[in-house]
Amino acid sequence: MILVVGSINMDICLSVNDIPRPGETVLSNGIAKNPGGKGANQAVAAAKLGGDVTMLGCVGDDEHGSMLLKSLSDAGVDTQYILKKDHCASSSAFICVADSGENSIVVDSSANMFVSPEYLLQYEHLFSAADYCVLQMEIPVETVKTAIELSKKHGANIVLNPSPVNGFDKSLLHGVSYLIPNETETSDLLGKDFCNISDCDLFAFMDSYSIENMIVTLGKDGCRYYHMDHGCICTKSAPKETVDTTGAGDTFLGAVVAALSKELEIKDALVFANTASGIAVTRRGAQQAMPTKQEVADELQKHSS
Ligand code: RIB
Repeated sequence: MILVVGSINMDICLSVNDIPRPGETVLSNGIAKNPGGKGANQAVAAAKLGGDVTMLGCVGDDEHGSMLLKSLSDAGVDTQYILKKDHCASSSAFICVADSGENSIVVDSSANMFVSPEYLLQYEHLFSAADYCVLQMEIPVETVKTAIELSKKHGANIVLNPSPVNGFDKSLLHGVSYLIPNETETSDLLGKDFCNISDCDLFAFMDSYSIENMIVTLGKDGCRYYHMDHGCICTKSAPKETVDTTGAGDTFLGAVVAALSKELEIKDALVFANTASGIAVTRRGAQQAMPTKQEVADELQKHSS
C-alpha cells in the first residue's frame, strides 16, 4: 500500500500571457477552479496509475472540501481517514499559468495546518501496512518529522518531495529512500547553481544524508536517477506541446511510486513516469490532467512501434 501524507488544495487558476513580475499588474484570460495540492495530486496520480493508495490530510467543512474529497475518491484513493475539520476553510492555491505552460503558485494553508503529529499517531497502523510513505512540505514540518519516524519504525520506504523548498529542514533527509526534487529544489538543497552541480556533488550529498535513491526531475528534459551502487540513469522525455505544467512533478512522483509498488525495475518506472508527466502537461489543471494507466500504456506503445 502507498500512504500519502500531505496537502489538499483547491487550485484557483488564472491563465495569463506571462507570469507577473514584482509590482506588475496583468489581466487574466480566464479563471478555473481545479482540485490540487501536492499531496492530493501525488495520491491521485499514483491511484490512477495502478497504485493502492490511502491518504492522510485535512479538508474544511466547506464546498471545496467536498469537491476535493470527491476528486480523490473518484481516482480510487482511500479517503476514509482524511480529517474534515469543522469551522475551517479548505486550503487554496492561487496559480498563474502562463502561455508557455509555466506557473507560479501561492498556497493559503488553512486546513493543511491541521494535519498534526497527533492526528497521524491515531493512524499508526497505516504506517505498518504501507510499503511507501509519500511526503511533501505543504503541511507542518513537525508532522513530516512524525511521518518519517513512523515510516522508519514500521519499515515503510520514505519518498520525500522537498517542495516548497523554502526554509527546508535538511535533518529530514536522513535515511530517506527516495528524494525527488526538481532542478530549483536540487540547487537550493546543495546551495549551488544547478548548472554547476556535478554527479559527484550529488553522490556526496546523498552520502552525507544516507539517501538511498535520488531522482532529479528536469521538466521537458526528463529526469536523472542516482543510486550509490547503480550510478546515474538519465531518462529523456518525448517532446510534447506544453499547455500547463501544474502538477506535472506530482504526476511523475505518483507514477514512479505506483510503478515501484508493482515491482517494476527502476529504469522502467522512470520511463513510465516520464511518459505520464509528458501527457499531463498537454492538458490543463493538476489532477484532471493526469493520465490513466491505459493512456500511458498506449503512449508507450506508440513510441515502441
Ligand atoms: O504541485 C502543484 C500543486 O502545488 C498545485 O496543485 C497547488 O495546489 C500546489 O500545492
